[in-house]
Amino acid sequence: MKITVIIGTEVKGCTYHIKEAFLDVLRPGSEITEFYLPKDLPHFCRGCKTCFLQSEELCPHADYVGPIWDSILEADLLVLTSPVYALRTTAQMKSLLDHLCVHWMVHRPDERMFGKKAVVLTNAIGVFNGGAHKDLITSLRWLGVSHIKKLGIGLMEGVFWPELSPQRRQAIIQRVQSLARKYQTNDSARKGLKVRTLFAITRLMHQGAARKEDPLSADNQYWLDKGWDKALNQDLAFDRPPSGGLFRAGALQSPNVSEFGKMTILPTQACILAKKCFVCVGKERISSEKVELH
Ligand SMILES: Cc1cc2nc3c(=O)[nH]c(=O)nc-3n(C[C@H](O)[C@H](O)[C@H](O)COP(=O)(O)O)c2cc1C
Repeated sequence: MKITVIIGTEVKGCTYHIKEAFLDVLRPGSEITEFYLPKDLPHFCRGCKTCFLQSEELCPHADYVGPIWDSILEADLLVLTSPVYALRTTAQMKSLLDHLCVHWMVHRPDERMFGKKAVVLTNAIGVFNGGAHKDLITSLRWLGVSHIKKLGIGLMEGVFWPELSPQRRQAIIQRVQSLARKYQTNDSARKGLKVRTLFAITRLMHQGAARKEDPLSADNQYWLDKGWDKALNQDLAFDRPPSGGLFRAGALQSPNVSEFGKMTILPTQACILAKKCFVCVGKERISSEKVELH
């Protein structure tokens, strides 16, 4: 099993020991990649919006964010762990979450997130872990993760791990490890109702926005290229001359294009829908199998 762990502090304190207890259960047979913040992303988002408008690869911090995102995508299990600061997650963790907004469902989600499992582990001197959980879970959900479990530890006795009583440390380790044991089998999560709903709502949003765009935004181009939004493709095909936007939209780069290229096309009659060829005759669509190519 591949596990990617994001640690929202560099201190080797309670967060570190709680995370180690969790991983000890899963270490055999697992490939674990860890990122410590802020070391592995020592910048705040600059707010340039280049990721949204052009590409995340042009982000001024892409050299830091890219490897973290790639590791997240490859993982079977994500572990996000953070101490509670001012009732929330740490600023360095929030900075990473900000950098990942471009992959939220409303922008350019990656379908590999939909089958992923995630565990959120936080700790505080008091009992209030809820704000930090919310920070982390909100991002995970909008990134498309269906299965998310949380565990918040209230340390109560102190803030330094070695100063907690052996009984308290043992009780914490037992709670954490009993959660970890649930992840010893490596099966992927099912796309849950919340993620399905977010996906459906955002699909409608993209469809509505794309119909007014020329040229398409990077987000809507992505949805079009993914073939996720058949309605969007269909609307574009019926409402616009192909030369106006649809052909520019990347469809011509699909493997189906050479096949399509054999056809004699009147600009307003032909279209490509969801990487399949269709010919529009009046208001009817006829698939390419039924159309004689010449
Ligand atoms: C800047 C800062 C803010 C904190 N804010 C809170 C808080 O709002 N509520 C709380 O219960 N503990 C708070 N704490 C305590 C930490 O959550 C707690 O000590 C935690 O165990 C630190 O993890 P670490 O040992 O991995 O650094 C805060 C600690 C720091 C350094």
